[in-house]
Amino acid sequence: MFGKKTIRDIEVEGKIVLVRADYNVPLDSKGNDDQRMISSDFRIRAELPTLRYLLEHGARRVIIISHLGRPDGRDEKLSLSLVAERLAELLPGVPVDFIDETTGAEVAATVDDLAQGGILLLENLRFAAGEKTNSTDFAREIVESTGAEIFVQDGFAVTHRAHASTDAITKLLPAVAGLLLEKEVTTLTKLMQNPDRPLAVMIGGAKVADKQPLIERFSSVADRILVGGKIAADGYATDDPKVYVAEDFDEDQAGAKLDIGPFATAKFVDTAKISRTVLWNGVLGRVEDPAYATASTLLAETLGENSEIESIICGGDTAGFVENLQAERPDLHFSLISTGGGAALALLSGEKLPGLENLLGHS
Ligand code: 3PG
Repeated sequence: MFGKKTIRDIEVEGKIVLVRADYNVPLDSKGNDDQRMISSDFRIRAELPTLRYLLEHGARRVIIISHLGRPDGRDEKLSLSLVAERLAELLPGVPVDFIDETTGAEVAATVDDLAQGGILLLENLRFAAGEKTNSTDFAREIVESTGAEIFVQDGFAVTHRAHASTDAITKLLPAVAGLLLEKEVTTLTKLMQNPDRPLAVMIGGAKVADKQPLIERFSSVADRILVGGKIAADGYATDDPKVYVAEDFDEDQAGAKLDIGPFATAKFVDTAKISRTVLWNGVLGRVEDPAYATASTLLAETLGENSEIESIICGGDTAGFVENLQAERPDLHFSLISTGGGAALALLSGEKLPGLENLLGHS
């Protein structure tokens, strides 16, 4: 079903392997730019299985490239140095180095100095103009500076972008998928093509324009589609009989509808309980305020407590919400918490992912 070669299909022993990760992690400066902190290391942890696999299978050196945020040129606030520190904590015993460049002689020298089986994280790709313009020259400079022999695409969350590190570079090296990319694409593709039924799709969040393609796409695939969150509060309406839109809401004193109400919540929870597969995209209320996180919490608990439901959580806010809940309730288990917001939506809406298209296929 995946159709692309992965790191399991090639020999990595003794090779310099270039991994494209998505370390676009949320940062919190608590109002002070000198005190940057990573507020969720979910995307860093999600990348570990691929890194461990490469090291365990004898890769000589692992060079990681990623972007962080949307800088316009070099911007120290968006340096990946913090990510390297966190990565070193998560991989005790593995030499993890960082360099504040993406190309050039210093990168080449640092790769040469790197210990056998070591990891080097390069600086934020988007500090260079060539990244977003999908420049082949920039991609070639990365390859030449690092001496990379294999390219591994594992940044699922950025595969909907045609950038130098997702597109141009795949034409310069043998390019295969990492384990995270394989897991995400396989799970989401099965969901669209061959889900265990009944399949319920639960949609929340704020922007109708983002969710409409998903609703339309799943209208022919899902057994039930439920819509809550701000889009329901704002009056989303459809005549599709498969789609239920929340009608009761919890309101603040000014009458703002900030969570779906008890009747709608019961509908979401009861539908989840009788489903074999649930895709959940978009929180159901204003979850930053615990007073309006009731429906989302009850739905997450229902999915996380019932191992017979295949639960797929996608979208940045929803994934963040579920992760925070898991920190308090480690017993909650979900089949997949997708790292990809825009990429997951693009794939689920039927779009092709440029970062996936050019990877080697099985001949
Ligand atoms: C994401 O967080 O969705 C990806 O890292 C892509 O980031 P972008 O929207 O800035 O391209």
